[in-house]
Amino acid sequence: MSTNQKIAVVTGGNRGLGFEASRQLAKQGYKVILTSREEAKGQAAAQKLQAEGLDVIAYPLDVSSNESSQSLAEFIRQQFGKVDALVNNAGIYIDTEAGSNSILNTKIDTLQTTIDTNVFGVVRVTQALIPLMKERNYGRIVNVSSGMGQLTDMEGGSPGYRISKTALNAVTRIFASELVGTNILVNSVCPGWVKTDMGGANAPRTPEQGVDTIVWLATLPDDGETGGFFRDRQPIAW
Ligand SMILES: NC(=O)c1ccc[n+]([C@@H]2O[C@H](COP(=O)([O-])OP(=O)(O)OC[C@H]3O[C@@H](n4cnc5c(N)ncnc54)[C@H](OP(=O)(O)O)[C@@H]3O)[C@@H](O)[C@H]2O)c1
Repeated sequence: MSTNQKIAVVTGGNRGLGFEASRQLAKQGYKVILTSREEAKGQAAAQKLQAEGLDVIAYPLDVSSNESSQSLAEFIRQQFGKVDALVNNAGIYIDTEAGSNSILNTKIDTLQTTIDTNVFGVVRVTQALIPLMKERNYGRIVNVSSGMGQLTDMEGGSPGYRISKTALNAVTRIFASELVGTNILVNSVCPGWVKTDMGGANAPRTPEQGVDTIVWLATLPDDGETGGFFRDRQPIAW
């Protein structure tokens, strides 16, 4: 590793948008730590990208675990001593699996599980890695949210997912506000509707199109935006 090489961490990197974001960041010269909750899946995904000549390594990370988040931070501190970009991509959508897609009878368990991954997961991993960013006064944090969390466009259905993404946007604003005056920029992104396991086969966007704004936010210049919500590189309403 050259000493100036930037380090990026992607959560949920074994498939979907996380896998493609890992590929695109590595193509831009980053060393990517592709994390996954199942170690073997992360290894297999990293090997695929290594076979494309990209600088990607795998590390296990379950965002619902404090220990796992701390272990990642310790690994990065020992191996690299820094982290430049964090893409908080891991997420779940379990409203329909749980038997009800309505807030009239969804199970509180479904809401709790979704929020633990999609919201507290982001807080856990971000809290663990921010000290490394603060030490060098550099960091780009991208929270992969969704238009389904927009209050201006809030509809019924998918209550766990919707609530989690609205809350995630609040998390973005709070981190960004507490980090004002530093060179650590924190933003939310809606990737659009993307063909992945979560998005399904009818989605119009490819993963490559879906990660464009994610990668743009992960590589913002020093005078870049913070505390915003973006789709297609443009600000969108909360
Ligand atoms: N696809 C879309 O149209 C769309 C639209 C708007 C927003 N998004 C957001 O984009 C992000 C990625 O979505 P996707 O479409 O790529 O979904 P996906 O194909 O379902 O992939 C989700 C990823 O998150 C990982 N994950 C779930 N829980 C985890 C945990 N506790 N710890 C670590 N990793 C965990 C999954 O790991 P496993 O493989 O182990 O399950 C998988 O790698 C999500 O935040 C999603 O809400 C997607």
